[in-house]
Amino acid sequence: MGRGTGCDIGRTGPSYNSAMSYYERHIFFCLNQRDGGQACCADHAAQDAFDHCKAQVKAAGLAGPGKVRVNKAGCLDRCAGAPVAVVYPEAVWYTFVDRSDIDEIVESHLKNGQPVERLRLPADVGR
Ligand code: FES
Repeated sequence: MGRGTGCDIGRTGPSYNSAMSYYERHIFFCLNQRDGGQACCADHAAQDAFDHCKAQVKAAGLAGPGKVRVNKAGCLDRCAGAPVAVVYPEAVWYTFVDRSDIDEIVESHLKNGQPVERLRLPADVGR
């Protein structure tokens, strides 16, 4: 039997069913560089935040199927709030300043499911 059949025979790792998401939570960091001095995430240490988040998620044992995935993204079209990241499935958008903000997102939201209200990106922030 193949994928999506509901058969878990022979699988390793966490158990799955078709109603579950492959990852419990997924965080995407925009790492985009824009030209001409336009606001962008790459100009606000987005790569360092991504690297730090990935390391913290791994160190906390949160990484992997059924848990958390940390991914790079291109422009998410909310550049005026740079740097930005978004967590699914809750679709919570964040803007952050430093590694301690990332630590708080990892501990509160990615680990315990509680969004970090003080770091939410205002709804009207776009490009
Ligand atoms: S450059 Fe990051 S959202 Fe556009």
